[in-house]
Amino acid sequence: MDASTDAGPQNFDLVVIGGGPGGYAAALYGASAGLDVGLVEFDKIGGTCLHRGCIPAKELLETAAIVRTVKHAGDFGVIVEPRSVEWATTLARKQAVIDKLAGGVTGLLKNRKVTIFNGYGSLGPNRTVTIRGAEGDTATVTGDAVVLASGSVPRVIPGFEPDGHTVVTSDEFFHIGHNPRRAVVIGGGAIGCEFASTLADLGASVTILEALPKILPGCDEDVTRAVLQSFKKKGIEVRSGVAVKGHSGPGTGEGGVGTVVSFGEDESIETDLVVVSVGRVPYTEGLLAEGTGVTIGERGHIEVDELCRTGEPSVWAVGDAIATPQLAHVAFAEAILVIKDLLGEHPAAIDYSRVPWAIYCNPEVAFAGHSEASAKEAGYDVLVSKHRFAGNSRAMILGETDGLVKIIAERKADGTGGRVLGVHMVGPWVTEQLSGGYLAVNWEATVDEIAEFIQPHPSLTELFGESVLAMTGRSLHG
Ligand code: NAI
Repeated sequence: MDASTDAGPQNFDLVVIGGGPGGYAAALYGASAGLDVGLVEFDKIGGTCLHRGCIPAKELLETAAIVRTVKHAGDFGVIVEPRSVEWATTLARKQAVIDKLAGGVTGLLKNRKVTIFNGYGSLGPNRTVTIRGAEGDTATVTGDAVVLASGSVPRVIPGFEPDGHTVVTSDEFFHIGHNPRRAVVIGGGAIGCEFASTLADLGASVTILEALPKILPGCDEDVTRAVLQSFKKKGIEVRSGVAVKGHSGPGTGEGGVGTVVSFGEDESIETDLVVVSVGRVPYTEGLLAEGTGVTIGERGHIEVDELCRTGEPSVWAVGDAIATPQLAHVAFAEAILVIKDLLGEHPAAIDYSRVPWAIYCNPEVAFAGHSEASAKEAGYDVLVSKHRFAGNSRAMILGETDGLVKIIAERKADGTGGRVLGVHMVGPWVTEQLSGGYLAVNWEATVDEIAEFIQPHPSLTELFGESVLAMTGRSLHG
């Protein structure tokens, strides 16, 4: 690693620390705006999302979806021989997708002349970044601007330290390479529900242990209920409002494998695998040397204002390291915002209450804006419209009729719907269907405006159209 010149450390318009979605997006967008960018990453470009998160999780969910399709092939008159999952192929396919995407991002960075430093970046005073390579070599660079995008790591709970085979977090889950007979998932958030769904569809008997009274915090009640009903059909047992206490250790389960997890009031469950998915914590270890104005909050996040500016002039922070929704697409949006801010383009702050959420368990969940409860809490007089996929032709054709679309709008004086406040979906491919609802919420569109738009027939998105139309006081099928 050589970054020095006779005139001192190499200087960039922008130095980015961290090569995950937040960091590589800042580098790509900055370079596309003509900035000379240096990107520091000690591991692989792509970060958690690409290597240990969103992408591998969706790849395994797709394997689970194929298993479901094959299982129900007979319903369509397609006779398939009994099949099993060939893990070597599954894992190889997952890796091939990851490698292709990682190669794509790295290629884009190179094409845009971003200089990549393979080492651990640490920010000191005057936007000086020290980079330590794996071999102990160091380099120093400076940036007129610096973006910190160091990401997050899984939170672990005492008594459930990951061992890589019996107790795992999302970091280890993708390397297990077999389907356990029994699994306990601790934490029923987005990650927990995606893993529970994958494992159950692949044939495991799954129990979710959730500390709060309900799983999927932040989701609308009707959505959570629909997920719970579908999970029940898959045989996933959901125990909410229970605290986990510990486990007896690897090899203490049946036949000397697995372990016994204790929880609640003296209850216990024997399992082959424990997946810990109780949130993620910001990763800022060694990121800040002495003498910068960047501050870390009580919960470990880098403190920023509404434009992602830290306490140090010309230093911004984005992504999971700051206290905003831990979503790759939010990190992308923050990266764009920051580049616009550093270019003096006066961007508007992100409205985090209206970002799109997408959870890829089966059935999928997607939403933007207020839930019914949060809209009421915020003081709106609300009108709600709900339509179930059970009555949708395309869903019937697919054989996937679980779920619903729910629109929350302001109630007008005549009882019809006004501005759309929230769109919540659960069911087949809803993560691909949210965009219309997302636009409606963020464009502050009214029911009357959206009801004018035509949805293709037959399609899953008709349910969104029907749900909006019903709020005008008249309807077709709904
Ligand atoms: P989360 O915060 O969404 O959910 C964690 C769950 O664990 C919560 O329901 C919490 O009450 C529960 N919990 C915490 N401590 C517990 C304990 N000791 N025993 C039992 N339950 C406990 O975190 P998650 O699912 O780990 O995801 C991390 C982040 O990544 C989240 O911000 C999530 O939104 C994001 N993410 C988003 C995805 C998506 O949009 N598809 C997919 C994966 C992650």
